[in-house]
Amino acid sequence: MCVFFLNKKNIATFAHINNFNPTNHFSEHLNRIMDKEIVLSGIRSTGNLHLGNYYGALRNFVRLQDIYDCNFFIADLHALTTNPDPQQLHASVKQILAEYLAAGIDPEKATIFIQSDVPEVAEMYLLLNMHVGIGELMRTTSFKDKARKCLGIGPAKDDDDEAFEKQIIGAETNKRVNAGLLTYPTLMAVDILIQKATKVPVGKDQEQHLELTRRFARRFNSFYGVDFFPEPQNFNFGAAAVKVPGLDGSGKMGKSEGNCIYLVDNPKTLKKKVMRAVTDEGPKEPNSPVSEPIANLFSLLELTSTPEIVKQYKDAYADCSIRYGDLKKQLAEDILKVTTPIRERVNDILADEDYLRKVVNRGAEKARERASKTLAEMRQIMGIRRF
Ligand code: ADP
Ligand code: TRP
Repeated sequence: MCVFFLNKKNIATFAHINNFNPTNHFSEHLNRIMDKEIVLSGIRSTGNLHLGNYYGALRNFVRLQDIYDCNFFIADLHALTTNPDPQQLHASVKQILAEYLAAGIDPEKATIFIQSDVPEVAEMYLLLNMHVGIGELMRTTSFKDKARKCLGIGPAKDDDDEAFEKQIIGAETNKRVNAGLLTYPTLMAVDILIQKATKVPVGKDQEQHLELTRRFARRFNSFYGVDFFPEPQNFNFGAAAVKVPGLDGSGKMGKSEGNCIYLVDNPKTLKKKVMRAVTDEGPKEPNSPVSEPIANLFSLLELTSTPEIVKQYKDAYADCSIRYGDLKKQLAEDILKVTTPIRERVNDILADEDYLRKVVNRGAEKARERASKTLAEMRQIMGIRRF
């Protein structure tokens, strides 16, 4: 029985969220993980979670924990690539942990851990890097975007790769692009491969990283003539990967884009953000094409509202009777239905430091079990062997 670290209040919370019955639960958990596929995903500790994180990742985490051997972690080492303030980094880890739990991830069903609590990850990162090319890393979209930000240069154009590379190599020391940013995909591949995960629920923006993970796994297997690493796939219950747009008219919702609706935004702030969303002048003729800012509002409505409501507003757009103010009010209300229960639980969970500590200590123990086995075998395969 493994409920030893749940206090009464938290048992009640989980019972409420997940129909959780503590009796028999751990033996069920053991049965389930014995032959289930391994799911793994993580979110960087770079601030509060937003709607993009929720629909791209977190919502699926909660759904998956009843079906698979699930492992969800907080990617604090990945957060280091952008050199955060140490106090803020620590606070952010704690906040995301509380938000995972508040959203309904149940430590009785899924393993919840902090990336840096698994030192095997750092060692495997070194080993795997020996099979990763700096060229393929430099061509990764996320690297190009983040490196451009570090160097203070504008968005990428198709034809300026060479100039960009020159800037990176020749950059002044106060504008360097750190090596951790370059090897970010290696670290992500290690997170996945060290747990031998096959299903990785992430948003659309992470698909290139997953593609690289598969490539590294194949390369390792074929170099050493082994069938060691499985090839992981994104997982969204059969649907395409999600991209939640921002409210600023274009692009995705993201922490570094500064266009987020956070799960912990209070109703007033949230409504203000939605009401300020970029729109256009409205359709002038029936069945007009939909501009990007309006398509984004419809995408958010599709995620948060019922099909009937979506149809009602799409019909209103088509016959030019739509009022964007009404659409936004509706959207804000429907988003609040999703975020309010999470927001209301977060502070209680955050206040229970003992409980949080127990959750991650237990999670680290479980995550390290499989990680140390994979690492020991990998060292053996690569010829790092003890006398
Ligand atoms: P951010 O992009 O805000 O820094 P992360 O990179 O830590 O957030 O993303 C954590 C998870 O949330 C990943 O699975 C990522 O794909 C998903 N995610 C982030 N933003 C979005 C978005 N706008 N739409 C869909 N998924 C997203
Ligand atoms: N790179 C992911 C992001 O920015 C976070 C992450 C790190 C991750 N390691 C992972 C996601 C392993 C899934 C699996 O969102």
